[in-house]
Amino acid sequence: MIKGLFATHSIEAMPHVDAGEPVEGGAEGEVTLKRALTARHLVMLGIGAVIGAGIFAITGTAAAQFAGPALVISFIIAGFACALAGMCYAEFAAMLPVSGSAYSYSYATLGEVVAWFVGWSLVLEYLFAAATVAVAWSGYFGELLRTLSAATGLSMTLPAALSSAPFTFNEAGHLVTTGTLINLPAILIVAAISWLCYRGITQSATVNAIIVAIKVIVILLFLVVMFHFINTDFWHPFIPPNEGGSKFGWSGVYRGATLVFFAYIGFDAVSTAAGEAKNPQRDMPIGILGSLLICTVLYIAMAATMTGVAPFRMLNTPEPVATAISYVMSTAAGSGAASHILGVLKVLVVFAALAGLSSVVLVMLMGQPRIFYSMSRDGLMPRLLGVLHPKFRTPYIGTVIVGVIAATLAGLFPVDVLGDLVSMGTLLAFATVCIGVLVLRRTRPELPRSFRVPWPWLVCTLGAASCLFLFWQAFVVRWPLLLSWMILGFLIYGFYGYRHSKLRSQSP
Ligand code: ALA
Repeated sequence: MIKGLFATHSIEAMPHVDAGEPVEGGAEGEVTLKRALTARHLVMLGIGAVIGAGIFAITGTAAAQFAGPALVISFIIAGFACALAGMCYAEFAAMLPVSGSAYSYSYATLGEVVAWFVGWSLVLEYLFAAATVAVAWSGYFGELLRTLSAATGLSMTLPAALSSAPFTFNEAGHLVTTGTLINLPAILIVAAISWLCYRGITQSATVNAIIVAIKVIVILLFLVVMFHFINTDFWHPFIPPNEGGSKFGWSGVYRGATLVFFAYIGFDAVSTAAGEAKNPQRDMPIGILGSLLICTVLYIAMAATMTGVAPFRMLNTPEPVATAISYVMSTAAGSGAASHILGVLKVLVVFAALAGLSSVVLVMLMGQPRIFYSMSRDGLMPRLLGVLHPKFRTPYIGTVIVGVIAATLAGLFPVDVLGDLVSMGTLLAFATVCIGVLVLRRTRPELPRSFRVPWPWLVCTLGAASCLFLFWQAFVVRWPLLLSWMILGFLIYGFYGYRHSKLRSQSP
């Protein structure tokens, strides 16, 4: 039985290709995913998934409650862990151009039960992140309506009963009702984006590329304008003295790194599109590492700028980028002629945040059905999730199911409290991928690898260790939630996946 649990998927059974050779994949006559994405699409997908609530909503809390101006160091630490994991993802995604991402890589290297555990962790990453970010989107949408109402004198606000979660957690951690009905904007954004994902990968990628262009241009504008208002006094002391627990000091920097890790989540989602890339051998490493590099540079610049233009304690709001601009407008330097430019910049930031959050929801909602698709093809999830649309060639049933679950979560729950859970699930998947690369180098050294992790022992070990280190920072606080999730996952595996696994039913 133990041997069955750790049975590995044959790599040859996956649509493995020789270097530089575009692939179609799938048996003859079978509807397959459509190979339509280029390197540019993939970089855009990565940026689309990465820049979102992390920078537009979470950075303020990370600076004000944990790291202070050393938020920059928190971003460097989290970026370092992601860079190491990103190289491991790049090696796998170029070698195994399938849509299951870390789930498929684990199945090929560490065995079925580990693969299940990773696939289940990825549900936390994709489905829960989509819902979490949709709730943040609803918050920014409310901000936009308030700004427009103030500018035009027309009342365009939504009643609170229709724009916030009817349930929340009280201080004792119990679920209580809030008296509101539903978070309608959060539901609508998930529904609209699910429809796009249903329609096709090309449409989704094109919309994503437009959104990404908007958010990157506004972030660059923010950096250029705000550069003139940086007051280096705000960076002293760079690491504020510890005030107990993880509040400032080095422990605060590490806790901040776990929090801002959320901001990096998504570059790995590029790998779920490997089954739809035209030339995965060449383009997956470009998509994964290119998007990660661009986002890391932007994040470090944003963190330095935000803590340089306003006292970090003031950034503890749900929209810290807009707060930083408001602070500058309230100072002598930001008044007069400058206040007009800053006012326009603030409106643009709200638009960019809405765009940014939409593209994160888009890529997450594209990724989750593709993971389920792979798990279903292996028999570990119901067959319905593996069915492709005859015309659009998307996993449409999975897309609808994921959309309905994400919309329900986003409409009813304050899923933002699950941000740590999203990060923990992702960090576990990253650590497993790092270990998987090492294992495959030993077990299948002869396989052609168009991208190879340099110094694999060092990079993979350090990658797994740094991801587990960040994981631990959140686990000590959130372990009951994570353990409950894992127990639920293993029960489903025991009652469904274990019995229906194609690999074990085919093994002698
Ligand atoms: N990295 C994504 C975000 O920050 C999940 O919204």
